[in-house]
Amino acid sequence: MRDITKLQCFTILCLTFFPTRAFSVDTLTSTQSLTNNHTLVSSPAQVFELGFFTPDNSRWYFGIWYKKIPVRTFVWVANRDQPLSNPSNTFKFGDQGSIVVVNESGSIFWSSNQTQAVHPVVQLLDSGNLVVREESNTDKYLWQSFDYPTDTLLTGMKLGWDLDANMDRYLTSWNNPNDPSTGAYSFKLDFHGFPEIFLWNNQKRVYRSGPWNGLRFSGVPEMEPLDGLSFEFANDQHKVYYSFSETNASLISRLIMNSTGYLQRFVWIESSQLWNLFWYAPKDQCDDYSSCGPYGMCDTNASPVCKCVKGFAPKNLQAWNLRDGSDGCLRNTSLDCEKDKFLPLNNMKLPDSTTAFVNKSMSLTECQEMCLKNCSCTAYANYQITGQGVGGCVIWTDELLDMRVYAEGSGQDLYVRLAASEIDNVASVGSGSGSDKTKQIIVVIAITVGTVIVLSGLIACFLWKRNLLQSLQKGKTEQRGLPERSQDLLLNEVVISSKKEYSGESNLDELELPVYDFGTIAIATGNFSDENKLGQGGFGCVYKGRLVEDEDIAVKRLSKTSGQGMEEFKNELKLIARLQHRNLVRLLGCCIETDEKILIYEYMENKSLDSILFNKAKCSLLDWPRRFNIICGTARGLLYLHQDSRFRIIHRDMKASNILLDGEMNPKISDFGMARIFSKDQTEANTRRVVGTYGYMSPEYAMDGLFSVKSDVFSFGVLVLEIISGKKNRGFYYANNELNLLGHAWNLWKEGNALELIDSSMHNSYSPSEVMRCIQVGLLCVQERAEDRPNMSSVVLMLSSETATMLQPKQPGFCLGRNPAETSSSSSRQEESFTVNQVTVTMLDAR
Ligand SMILES: *[C@@H]1O[C@H](CO)[C@@H](O)[C@H](O)[C@H]1NC(C)=O
Ligand SMILES: *[C@@H]1O[C@H](CO)[C@@H](O)[C@H](O)[C@H]1NC(C)=O
Ligand SMILES: *[C@@H]1O[C@H](CO)[C@@H](O)[C@H](O)[C@H]1NC(C)=O
Ligand SMILES: *[C@@H]1O[C@H](CO)[C@@H](O)[C@H](O)[C@H]1NC(C)=O
Ligand SMILES: *[C@@H]1O[C@H](CO)[C@@H](O)[C@H](O)[C@H]1NC(C)=O
Ligand SMILES: *[C@@H]1O[C@H](CO)[C@@H](O)[C@H](O)[C@H]1NC(C)=O
Ligand SMILES: *[C@@H]1O[C@H](CO)[C@@H](O)[C@H](O)[C@H]1NC(C)=O
Ligand SMILES: *[C@@H]1O[C@H](CO)[C@@H](O)[C@H](O)[C@H]1NC(C)=O
Repeated sequence: MRDITKLQCFTILCLTFFPTRAFSVDTLTSTQSLTNNHTLVSSPAQVFELGFFTPDNSRWYFGIWYKKIPVRTFVWVANRDQPLSNPSNTFKFGDQGSIVVVNESGSIFWSSNQTQAVHPVVQLLDSGNLVVREESNTDKYLWQSFDYPTDTLLTGMKLGWDLDANMDRYLTSWNNPNDPSTGAYSFKLDFHGFPEIFLWNNQKRVYRSGPWNGLRFSGVPEMEPLDGLSFEFANDQHKVYYSFSETNASLISRLIMNSTGYLQRFVWIESSQLWNLFWYAPKDQCDDYSSCGPYGMCDTNASPVCKCVKGFAPKNLQAWNLRDGSDGCLRNTSLDCEKDKFLPLNNMKLPDSTTAFVNKSMSLTECQEMCLKNCSCTAYANYQITGQGVGGCVIWTDELLDMRVYAEGSGQDLYVRLAASEIDNVASVGSGSGSDKTKQIIVVIAITVGTVIVLSGLIACFLWKRNLLQSLQKGKTEQRGLPERSQDLLLNEVVISSKKEYSGESNLDELELPVYDFGTIAIATGNFSDENKLGQGGFGCVYKGRLVEDEDIAVKRLSKTSGQGMEEFKNELKLIARLQHRNLVRLLGCCIETDEKILIYEYMENKSLDSILFNKAKCSLLDWPRRFNIICGTARGLLYLHQDSRFRIIHRDMKASNILLDGEMNPKISDFGMARIFSKDQTEANTRRVVGTYGYMSPEYAMDGLFSVKSDVFSFGVLVLEIISGKKNRGFYYANNELNLLGHAWNLWKEGNALELIDSSMHNSYSPSEVMRCIQVGLLCVQERAEDRPNMSSVVLMLSSETATMLQPKQPGFCLGRNPAETSSSSSRQEESFTVNQVTVTMLDAR
């Protein structure tokens, strides 16, 4: 006992008389205290330091900062609103195991809650947590500074609620960078409904993280677990909180609520000795809370940024036109409860969800049913989009507030309730309760409307005869509003050029396409039987089917699980429904029902080019005239996409398996799931998500995500060389050389032996000059620099004319074996990212 007292006295002496840096401790007992210039330093790593500090020599504070970081950075302040006015102060134990900060005359300026500890010690941990515990129990903290954050969230801190203890942990800004007193801004989790975190300016909400979707916050699409940093969101009946941690201990990161109202995440960069701003929010106008009001959606890519959800119109048109969208939108047609339908919206930040209802175990279909039954339900969505709890159900019963639209692939799907009449022209999800009676009425309407058209619109009838008759026979079509759309179609076809410039977003209701119901398609394909299966791609399966007696169809059923399915689906619908060319595969119709998404194409007897070209038993079917025809047809189809259709379309996934062959081996380009529309004067764009197929991707696209018509030209060049050689670019290695097909072709070309490239199965069916011309075109198309590659119109010209002048090709891009250093680095990167060959791959762009 006496020994202990002696030791404690010694420690106090040390603390009082020795300079801190020479001797540091991390723990104080109840008889010890910390004064003036002395500090506690966390151990063993000495990451944090606790002590008194002053920003201006007139106010003194007690707090924690990083010890080793030269830029003095405070992470916690005890007496932020009660500064000490003199430099001589003391930190020690007060009554009942509390810790206190007192001035020279003993007035308490800050106190923790009482802990009732018998032998309390206070310790500064390497995490930055200041804890009070029983001396004998190192694990149980009776009080901890992590429960009372100031403006900084550190690894391991929880932002949110301990519901059992009714404790709310949130960040509050400093008043200004030199004044730690409580500022105007706070970042606070609301655990009600579907929990999310709000940024407040005093009593006003200014920003919302959006609810946690299993992977990230719905309103922070850029949030991705990076190397060394991972995010966690806990949500059960005991706790709801957000936290993060560094998986790489050498990373130092902190999230702060700054004094001007921004959240900032900093990462310490050792080499430059600086805090690097890693992320911040709010970022743009659309992050402002409810900037477009109820049922308004904010889209930074649109001008003005606010638009109403379909079926809604601006509430205050005058203010709306003056670009003040805050009054939001009103429903055009009032709801009719169980007869209503749902409009799917993609890439959304989910609306304010603090009053939403959540059931984590319901499926999306059950969710829709539940929403439909509850007449006050306005929208529904999945609870989690990823991870263990994928699925689940969220239902909104209030006005939908603070929605925004993100770039493709970044947001989430939301299903908004609309009156059936608003949605009838749209390919909707679900169709009410679908009683026989409603179906009969629909059929009667369809027949009536149909008859009127048959009688009145001769041309319309001609164009739509087949589909219409079909629909009438089956009596099951979902297609309504035929008159307007037929006229629309006519108008579009006649005034083909300038009616509507593509505006970045078009609705499904603008589609001039027959919509089939699921039952019809199921019957046509023998219930999607395996023997009718034609193939399987990245987004689902393709089946052969027979719709009416003598018409074969190909049915592409998108897999329900693919998260991006809906996006690609709509993309494809929007695009191909408007395209007409004999070298593009024709879309006959579609089917959208609950979570079924189906495209119906003309059936192509000879399937895809790769199934013949790369098949030893079948490749001899393709003699040179046929191959040349395939090359020329594909070039014409691509030219139409790039230049001659109403839009400039980049296919982005040109490859042998996307060229389909009809009975006469005529090629047709298919699969527009990845395609992008450019305005006529736009020539290139950048994407964060690189999609495509390895072996066909141009260097600038694979490396930098830069795509343009020239990236399609590159893929076309690869295709040409594959068609001539009968070999795949990828997976082809010539002899013991490290060359791929492009490199091999290039070498043969340089040596003047280009004809050696020819597929031996062609025997002598070819004309050497035609083949040479094709090889030269192929090599011109795969040149490394996009600007060197020809556009499709000169490709078509060069292919068709014996006399067209042609440049000498330069070295191809992605020609392995040319520059050892460059090759090894780029090829190893490719190997990591693209392990699949024929299947379309998606990878995140390396930042
Ligand atoms: C703290 O230390 C500085 C120099 O190290 C000294 O000038 C100052 O008087 C000390 N303050 C107190 C309150 O002891
Ligand atoms: C300590 O604080 C009290 C209350 O603010 C004040 O009255 C007293 O003068 C202070 N003592 C010293 C020595 O500053
Ligand atoms: C003490 O506990 C009460 C209730 O739990 C809490 O409101 C208060 O902020 C705590 N004070 C400190 C300084 O920890
Ligand atoms: C942690 O990060 C450092 C520096 O960024 C790096 O050198 C080290 O390899 C990383 N460690 C792990 C296990 O990832
Ligand atoms: C707060 O963060 C924003 C966004 O990073 C920044 O522009 C602003 O300067 C910061 N304010 C302060 C006081 O650091
Ligand atoms: C809503 O109704 C108004 C007139 O009632 C109409 O001008 C507007 O186009 C409609 N909006 C939508 C999205 O249907
Ligand atoms: C959630 O939905 C499931 C399935 O419909 C049901 O069994 C369960 O009771 C629901 N839970 C809550 C809390 O409503
Ligand atoms: C609709 O849902 C809300 C929220 O879950 C609930 O409060 C309300 O009672 C429901 N109404 C009906 C009619 O079921």
